[in-house]
Amino acid sequence: MTRKILITSALPYANGAIHLGHLLEHIQTDIWVRFQKMCGHECYYICADDTHGTPIMLRAESEGITPEALIARVHDEHLRDFTGFHVAYDNYHSTHAHENREIVDEVYLKLRDAGFIERKTIAQYYDTAKEMFLPDRFIKGQCPKCGALDQYGDSCEVCGATYSPTDLINPVSAMSGTKPVHRESEHYFFKLSDCEAFLRNWTRSDTLQREAANKLDEWFSAGLQNWDISRDAPYFGFEIPDAPNKYFYVWLDAPIGYMGSFRNLADRIQLDYDAWWRSGSDTELYHFIGKDILYFHALFWPAMLEAADYRKPNGIYAHGFLTVNGAKMSKSRGTFITAESYLASGLNPEWLRYYFASKLNGSMEDIDLSFDDFIARVNSDLIGKYINIASRTAGFISKRFDGKLAAPASKSPLLDSVQKAADSIAECYENLDYGRALREVMHLTDTANQYVNDHKPWELAKQPGQEALLHEVCSVSLNLFRLLTVYLKPVLPKLAADVEQFLDIPPLSWADAATLLTDHAINPYRHLMTRVEQQQIDTVIAANIAKIAPEAAVATPAQPATQNAPVHDTVGVDDFAKIDLRVARIVNAEHVEGADKLIRLTLDIGEAQPRNVFAGIKSAYDPAQLIGRMTVMVANLAPRKMKFGVSAGMVLAASGETPGLFLLSPDDGAMPGMRVK
Ligand code: 2FM
Ligand code: ZN
Repeated sequence: MTRKILITSALPYANGAIHLGHLLEHIQTDIWVRFQKMCGHECYYICADDTHGTPIMLRAESEGITPEALIARVHDEHLRDFTGFHVAYDNYHSTHAHENREIVDEVYLKLRDAGFIERKTIAQYYDTAKEMFLPDRFIKGQCPKCGALDQYGDSCEVCGATYSPTDLINPVSAMSGTKPVHRESEHYFFKLSDCEAFLRNWTRSDTLQREAANKLDEWFSAGLQNWDISRDAPYFGFEIPDAPNKYFYVWLDAPIGYMGSFRNLADRIQLDYDAWWRSGSDTELYHFIGKDILYFHALFWPAMLEAADYRKPNGIYAHGFLTVNGAKMSKSRGTFITAESYLASGLNPEWLRYYFASKLNGSMEDIDLSFDDFIARVNSDLIGKYINIASRTAGFISKRFDGKLAAPASKSPLLDSVQKAADSIAECYENLDYGRALREVMHLTDTANQYVNDHKPWELAKQPGQEALLHEVCSVSLNLFRLLTVYLKPVLPKLAADVEQFLDIPPLSWADAATLLTDHAINPYRHLMTRVEQQQIDTVIAANIAKIAPEAAVATPAQPATQNAPVHDTVGVDDFAKIDLRVARIVNAEHVEGADKLIRLTLDIGEAQPRNVFAGIKSAYDPAQLIGRMTVMVANLAPRKMKFGVSAGMVLAASGETPGLFLLSPDDGAMPGMRVK
């Protein structure tokens, strides 16, 4: 039976680059989509950029552009990055689109008319300098529980306490540095508490992973709070239809963005949008998300859909966080790796797809990308095992048999057993246990290699009278290779396309595992994949360290909920003491030919030779102004080779959400070479 399936990945925020954390999820989703499509189901994979909210508004302001210009640029970057990893959406839209605005209004009006919206006046912190209410993440102060300084308004990174911003001691606005005041304003709330009976029932309907259902039970026990869905101007978002100057909170219109993106697709390719979204629809809907946004997808979202009378998801698949080499992704360690830098370093995107797939099992456990394991796994499984089957046998077919595969003389029990594995491997994919699917495939690959080893075609080729056997062995081997390609295709779509070209066959579907290639001419074999080298990993890590170095002194408030990995590492005093900060005199400063952002600084820090440092401060300074001035530099930063020469250190500058870059200076009297502590 052909199923009708709609599949989504979480919508990435439109103010940051795609990184490994996003890739984990979108690759997980893409594999499932490709598997469903290979099985012949009618399946659409949709996504979009999540474009609204204060951080995006402020980011645009700091870049001196409109939010619309920012989100248009980022949309193209995001789609380029995902496409680079062969993630194939049927539509990648934007939440800032007319379709979304229309559906958001429609949902809201239905909720209001059904009595699910209430208004309440609440007090919040207000920044009188910036003239705006402050989101929790934009207020900093002392933790009310442990006293740690410089903590966000919603939670403490030192002791883990969560609290309301009004509990913070000595709060300051992270935006203007001023002390915020209390101000009242009317807010709109979605009455989540009225949906408790529905949610309790829905949670038990097999839609959620076991761990997720348990999490929900905890939330039920804690009591469901009504949800604040409005924000006051200034805000980049959709204005609430019956409330001028009030905007929908980004998290209200983000999941509706799934519907908006689908409507845009439906209009384009003539699908019946309503048939997919009306209550009781016989189509299927699945959301792939990170476990950090389960609350939004397993509570607010189904409750809203139910209250406004739309269909509910059939499944919500939450994955765990990604760690790299056993630790949180870290900008300073260079493991906060962007999609763009991975591809630019010459790493093959399918290596990462394969590695992630081998670790994914459909649970909410965290997943570690260990680079040693990555290199070993890819080189051993893909190059040493899978590709090896074709590379050891294809040449004989071209050279000795005119490129033609033989019709098998007798039935091959090995081919038979590999064909029979199709159902159990399909079941693993269906259940999101890609790790198990790949273990089964690799087990079959081992048996195929054993077959080649046992029959030694390279020896048969030298023995007279063994032509028929040589032909048979190579034909069986390449048929095994073709079957394994069917099973690997959801994970390795580009490699599979290259194999299809090599075998001269139309795109493989899952059903093709039931057939064999006989009496069939193939193309000459060309090498299909290279090995991963340690050097390539070193390059990508260095590239990500280099990228942040010029802005190391800049702290940017994070998003309220991010896709993955928080990036605020704390450092102990011992680690901090390793940084050798020195007073430096700028003895020369000049433009760098061909660099948009850099100034070349010559710095005297009391050493025999001055240091050469490239600083990304061109937007704020004219080199001539800088000569003679004192500043502070990191003197023991590992030298970095840049396009323009080696940079032997880094100067410190401040920047924030408002435009400008401010080079640090010591007070008068400081001398070059003095330590800064
Ligand atoms: O956490 C995030 O990255 C959000 N931008 C995800 C939104 S998913 C959906 F609800 F739109
Ligand atoms: Zn604390």
